[in-house]
Formats: sequence, structure tokens, C-alpha cells
Amino acid sequence: MDDVEQARAYADADFEAPHAHFTALLREEFPDLAQAGTALDLGCGPGDISFRFAAAWPGWRVDAVDGSEAMIALARGRAGEDPAGSRIRFVRAMLPAEAPPAEAYDLVFSNSLLHHLPDPQILWSSIRRYSRRGAGVFVMDLMRPGSEHEVEALVERYADGEAEILRRDFRLSLFAAYRPDEVQDQLEASGLGAIRVDAISDRHWIARGRFDI
Ligand SMILES: C[S@@+](CC[C@H](N)C(=O)[O-])C[C@H]1O[C@@H](n2cnc3c(N)ncnc32)[C@H](O)[C@@H]1O
Repeated sequence: MDDVEQARAYADADFEAPHAHFTALLREEFPDLAQAGTALDLGCGPGDISFRFAAAWPGWRVDAVDGSEAMIALARGRAGEDPAGSRIRFVRAMLPAEAPPAEAYDLVFSNSLLHHLPDPQILWSSIRRYSRRGAGVFVMDLMRPGSEHEVEALVERYADGEAEILRRDFRLSLFAAYRPDEVQDQLEASGLGAIRVDAISDRHWIARGRFDI
């Protein structure tokens, strides 16, 4: 997603429902989150989830990283206008070779990065590497449907009227996505088996828990 046109189409798309759901479930999972802390958003894109998190948890700072210069430029542009923007640091960093700006975080979250990675362990090993002991871990991604027919039905239901570039990306993403049982296997292989995964809608799963190794 390094392409400027692709990044712009993504930033302009309507993610209100899944992103609001992400924030609501994060609050439900961690009702006793400390008053202040530092969170890491992996694969932040244009930053919508970072902005929502920073607005909802005003004592927190966020380091938000993404490998795409175009995405980071859009996120920084929005930060200049958003009241929560001063508490978010947007950093261009391609995982795993390039690192987030701090050594360890109190909460690590990510939305829709996993299915973009050539190896899913890039995400899980980054979570291991940058989580403080006891840190919250919260990851959402698309869930691969069981058939091509179901993929097309989801594209029609949720990307009807969206730009063609976005419909194409959504279709490819659904094909590339993992199923919850596959994610649970990935977590177990990386020593994060205590983090649980479940489907939370017809097209998303969430992996959530505490880093306790
Ligand atoms: C579908 S977007 C999700 C953006 C954002 N998390 C959201 O929910 O709106 C996936 C993002 O992952 C980024 N990405 C893909 N591979 C990456 C990597 N290895 N390191 C960092 N970012 C990566 C892409 O540039 C893209 O912005």
C-alpha cells in the first residue's frame, strides 16, 4: 500500500463500523487500563484507529508505525488538525527490519496488518519484542471466507459504491486473510498461546489478551 492513490482511497473509505467496534471491544477487554501509558499501533495506515484510541484514552501517548511513506504522510496531515494528534507519533518503519521508536510498550494493537505480511510471524514476533510484561495485546484482522462466492458477497455488502481500487483491495485482502484457527496456531507457534482469538463479525476476528511471558 505504498501507492499514493491507494493510500488516499483507503484513507477516504468508510471504516466507521469496524473501527468503532475495535475501540469498544478494546475498552471491554481492558476496562482497567491505567490512566496513562504508551501504546504501539502496528501498521497504522492513515491512523484512524490511533486517533480514536488517543481521543478515548486522553492520558495515553501512541507510537504509530507503518511501512508506507504515503500512509504516514496522510496520518501526519490529519494529526495537525486533530485535537489528539499531539499525543501520537507517526513513524515510517517497515517491520521487522525497522523498529518502532521505543523499546517496549504498555499496550500493542494492530488492525488489518497481518494479512499484508509475507510471514505472519513478523507481527507476532514484533508483539513479543515490543510488549512490556503484562502489556495488553489487541489485534483485529479480516477473516477469510469459505468460498469465492462468500468473498464476492462481502465485497457487495460492505464495499458497494466504494472506489474500484478499494473494492479490489478488499477482495484481495479477504482472499489473503487468515481464519481464527490458523491465527491461534500462529500464536501458539510464537509462544503467545494465552492470547485468544475469536470471530467478532461476519468478516473480522480479534486476538486479545495480555503479554505474560
Ligand atoms: C489495511 S492497512 C491498515 C491500516 C490501519 N491499521 C487501519 O486499520 O486503518 C495495512 C497497513 O499495513 C502497512 N504494512 C504492510 N506491511 C507492513 C510492514 N511490514 N511493516 C509496517 N507496515 C506495514 C501498509 O502500509 C498499510 O498501511
